[in-house]
Amino acid sequence: VSIRAGAYSDELVQTAKSVASPGRGILAIDESNATCGKRLASIGLENDETNRQAYRQLLLTTPGLGEYISGAILFEETLYQSTTDGKKFVDCLREAKIMPGIKVDKGLVPLPGSNSESWCQGLDGLASRSAEYYKQGARFAKWRTVVSIPCGPSALAVKEAAWGLARYAAISQDNGLVPIVEPEILLDGDHSIDRTLEVAEKVWSEVFFYLAENNVLFEGILLKPSMVTPGAEHKEKASPETIAKYTLKMLRRRVPPAVPGIMFLSGGQSEVEATLNLNAMNQSPNPWHVSFSYARALQNTVLKTWQGRPENVESAQKALLVRAKANSLAQLGKYSA
Ligand code: 13P
Repeated sequence: VSIRAGAYSDELVQTAKSVASPGRGILAIDESNATCGKRLASIGLENDETNRQAYRQLLLTTPGLGEYISGAILFEETLYQSTTDGKKFVDCLREAKIMPGIKVDKGLVPLPGSNSESWCQGLDGLASRSAEYYKQGARFAKWRTVVSIPCGPSALAVKEAAWGLARYAAISQDNGLVPIVEPEILLDGDHSIDRTLEVAEKVWSEVFFYLAENNVLFEGILLKPSMVTPGAEHKEKASPETIAKYTLKMLRRRVPPAVPGIMFLSGGQSEVEATLNLNAMNQSPNPWHVSFSYARALQNTVLKTWQGRPENVESAQKALLVRAKANSLAQLGKYSA
């Protein structure tokens, strides 16, 4: 199967297949400490390690989660953390048949010479960090870079995003981690859906060009695209059917069928919107497993229900299962609101 027969190729293919298994998707809880702090602040909690651990414990110990969730993306702190009873989060996940994943990028910084755009850091030392994460139990990785439509995107920003993702993907595979390739095309802006399609086609063509140049094994990657929608400030909203039509058109034009799974981000869509859009995309067979890797669209109600109170943990976990099950049905094209 491999372009370049690396030591891990068979395992990478198996890992990717298991994350892209029918009726399941990814729970993204890899918020950096800064972003997690914003979520905790929204329910009046302080951003300290105890609160972050309590919140991640609530999510990762939800009974029955593995029925709908095949992988969980963790921030580095969580990968090394345990429950208050001393059980490693990684072991909780393994028992639930959920693959542990790890966010490996080091975040966005301004890209000099561009139109106020950014680039994603994290390649320095990535090979040794990845080897450590593998030892700790991680089996897939995530690198999120962004492309802004209102700021351009400039040719420079797109090329940098694509090249960074490709280098990261090759390094991840070399260390046994399935790379999730995530060039997030931000929702911000008042542009039309046709403009988003045009930018998404450009971005994905460059990403696959550089993935191939870096000898990345396509059977051992997963994608995390944004859905093709109008800009958040555009005068008209698009229906799930329109979003599905545009998004699938873009994917069919740009993504080889060798790629096992497309795991969408929610990008600020509401919980129900994200589910309906995914469901619309699964109304007819696709060459790849088309599923979810949602953070906000799985967690918004959970956070509100929890409020940081131990007595609310059970109902917050139930709220997580409701969203996870709805998206599982949407992966199968069987969700109805
Ligand atoms: P959202 O689903 O909230 O857009 O999160 C995307 C992400 O990259 C988290 O891993």
